[in-house]
Amino acid sequence: MNGLDALLAPEGQSLLAEVAQALPAADGELQLITRLRRHHPQELVAAALTQAKLRIRARSKFTHADRMYFTQAGLEQASSERMARHHAERYAPFDLVADLCTGIGGDLIGLADGRAAIAVDKDPVHAHMALLNAAANGVGERVTSVCADVRDVRLDDVGAVFVDPARRSSDRRFAAGTSEPSLDWCFALADRGVAMGIKAAPGLPTELVPAGWELEFVSEHRDLKESVLWSPALATTQRRATLLPERLTLVEQAGASLPVQAPGTFLLDPDPAVTRAGLVEELGQSLGDVWKVDERIAFLSADFAMDTPFGRTLRIEASAPWSLARLRETLRSLDIGTVDIRKRGSAVDVDEIQRKLKLTGGRAATVVLTRVSDQPWMMVCSDV
Ligand SMILES: C[S@@+](CC[C@H](N)C(=O)[O-])C[C@H]1O[C@@H](n2cnc3c(N)ncnc32)[C@H](O)[C@@H]1O
Repeated sequence: MNGLDALLAPEGQSLLAEVAQALPAADGELQLITRLRRHHPQELVAAALTQAKLRIRARSKFTHADRMYFTQAGLEQASSERMARHHAERYAPFDLVADLCTGIGGDLIGLADGRAAIAVDKDPVHAHMALLNAAANGVGERVTSVCADVRDVRLDDVGAVFVDPARRSSDRRFAAGTSEPSLDWCFALADRGVAMGIKAAPGLPTELVPAGWELEFVSEHRDLKESVLWSPALATTQRRATLLPERLTLVEQAGASLPVQAPGTFLLDPDPAVTRAGLVEELGQSLGDVWKVDERIAFLSADFAMDTPFGRTLRIEASAPWSLARLRETLRSLDIGTVDIRKRGSAVDVDEIQRKLKLTGGRAATVVLTRVSDQPWMMVCSDV
């Protein structure tokens, strides 16, 4: 019996319930373990404790985490409910989808909501967990779970596929663009006419994306989470930036361009999904009279407080060519004692600058170290 089967047996279930109740209030884990081991096998106690802790961690991704099953790697790699819902939206026209490399079923939960889903994973524990987790989320009846290598599964009757290939093995992360199964295998499947979405790392080398595919970058609370490649059958643009949980989206506009000029009164730091998708010009154009401060740097500036969910706006209190002495002097004259230093396109050592500033003022500020028209530049900014 593997650890999951043991947890699913009556003794495992009652132990899991007991651990879940005791864990948040436990004075000490050691005491809890000692007490439980008097009545249960050591391995089962360890499995229950691990599972209960993973469920607590999983609450940030899943509403029903407390009823789901996880491995550590499976949870870490799982799409959150919000992401899964976002991915699944593309499959609205389909009655059946295959979720290849289903893991613990994060994406499966979204995909099987409204259609039948075939969930495939070569890891028997993950294949089993995916089915259990689909059931815990009320979509179990729509799921067929297959434990197999996706390359051995016949998908002749399946018109739509979502695949989230493994990007790490048990002991290491693969290089960017490398996965198991490979992207080339995924592309070959799409070439056979299957509508396909491929979840990939946010750092995916963009030149790997075939012509005609859409590349979407997704961030959550300004944290860049993933890229998704959509085959021509599911693509609606070439590049897209999506913000979760709001599900706001910005797409490529042919010929979008902005002037480059010195910083004005406000600075906009675009969301990382926008920057990574190369949609800074599109964002600027959607905002009005906005410009870039450097051809190659993803900051926008304007003389009005740009109000957009696609970026963070700061008020520029001082703007000048970079010099440590000038920065120190400026911060003193503005009574600034605490700084958050952000750099983009600058080679300076932030920790060293923090040490050398020796500030005494009463206000806090954001110092932006960057390039303006290709010159090293500094801006002292405050929140809007
Ligand atoms: C990134 S995880 C999937 C996460 C999933 N989308 C979720 O939201 O929970 C990758 C999974 O691919 C599985 N896998 C890797 N290579 C595979 C292959 N050739 N065939 C089937 N499954 C594979 C691994 O066992 C792992 O569970």
